[in-house]
Amino acid sequence: MGKNKLSRFADNATYDHVVQPTFTELQAADLHFKGKWNSDFFVRHAPLVLELGCGGGEYTVGLAQIQPEKNYIGVDIKGARIWRGARTAKELGLDNVGFVRTHVDHILRCFGKHEVSEIWLTFSDPQIGKARKRLTSPLFLARYKEVLKPGGIIHLKTDSPLLYEYTLEQIAAYGLPVHEQSAEVYAELVPRVSAAERAVLSIRTYYEQMWLEEGRTIHYLRFGIDPFPEGKGR
Ligand SMILES: C[S@@+](CC[C@H](N)C(=O)[O-])C[C@H]1O[C@@H](n2cnc3c(N)ncnc32)[C@H](O)[C@@H]1O
Repeated sequence: MGKNKLSRFADNATYDHVVQPTFTELQAADLHFKGKWNSDFFVRHAPLVLELGCGGGEYTVGLAQIQPEKNYIGVDIKGARIWRGARTAKELGLDNVGFVRTHVDHILRCFGKHEVSEIWLTFSDPQIGKARKRLTSPLFLARYKEVLKPGGIIHLKTDSPLLYEYTLEQIAAYGLPVHEQSAEVYAELVPRVSAAERAVLSIRTYYEQMWLEEGRTIHYLRFGIDPFPEGKGR
């Protein structure tokens, strides 16, 4: 393992705002913050927003600055990536940001029923040929249904036409409400929304920046989960 990675892992271990349960711990029991993120971790009551597969946490940190009235948790399996977001949050003095290093499959171990207000999926792997593993498959939607409050919402930002179309198919199949939809965020959506929404949509992640430099188009969906059947897809 590279020296850089080791020093990032060492930093993470010293950060109070980075939670790193082991696989074995989560197999045996729920994370101690489950259902208590606001009371025990942030020590303030505010809408809780997740970014799943957050990488360097650009949305987690960016949103925390733009909308400081909410609490944010970035989730990713890679500690060296989380480190970047955790360090930036620390440097900016943000006390409404945390990170959990774990597999997205474990979110029901980490977040309680109806504990979450919004979920961001930013440039998730489209999992070509492995539909079940996509972060908008019925398996994952069932998990989001459990952790999201009634009226909770999911944001998908992606360069992948496959993931975008697949997600629209799930939305149609389960009759989920679409709050916003654009196959071309920057050309079509950003010019017609409020300045506040424009700021949110214009946060650029590490991967997004790469895809934009390659000339790819960015797609965005914002939808609700309420009609999704309880327990479906487990
Ligand atoms: C394509 S990157 C996008 C990262 C970031 N959201 C961005 O836009 O720059 C996908 C991220 O998802 C993470 N990831 C993939 N599968 C995961 C899983 N099952 N659990 C947690 N993180 C996962 C990877 O480690 C990676 O950081």
